[in-house]
Amino acid sequence: MKRLATILSVLSLALVSLQAHAAGSVGDAGAGKAIAEQVCVSCHGLDGNSQTPQFPRIGGQYATYLVKSINDYKTGQRNNPIMNGIVASMSQEDIENVSAYYAQQKGDLHVKQVPNF
Ligand code: HEC
Repeated sequence: MKRLATILSVLSLALVSLQAHAAGSVGDAGAGKAIAEQVCVSCHGLDGNSQTPQFPRIGGQYATYLVKSINDYKTGQRNNPIMNGIVASMSQEDIENVSAYYAQQKGDLHVKQVPNF
């Protein structure tokens, strides 16, 4: 009986971590907010809904996508002189934290008009 309880608790732990993974949860959003306030706010805005077309909106984006994009700038897989410079000195922990923060913001991509090109 005790063994069954152990097996069940291990299984439920595995399920919880699977769910967290499925939701794309990474990092500590509270710690990420400080980075957003100090570094990213001037271009992307504090809620990630940039008001200028040359700065992409990142609010409400999946955290896993943000982590990947930032790492792509860091490794040079993705090239942009501004972003390459900004992320060069960020640790993986900072990247995950700031991604968690922006992922929690409410993205307003869908309610605003897409500009005409
Ligand atoms: C000086 C302005 C500036 C600052 C500050 C800045 N960014 Fe950016 N960011 C940009 C520009 C411009 C792009 C678009 C680059 C491109 O074309 O690839 C971008 C792109 C991105 C993207 C890719 C978005 C996508 O949809 O693929 C992410 C993620 C991102 N920035 C995160 C951040 C984070 C996090 C910070 C703070 C640590 C930050 N940026 C600070 C200007 C800035």
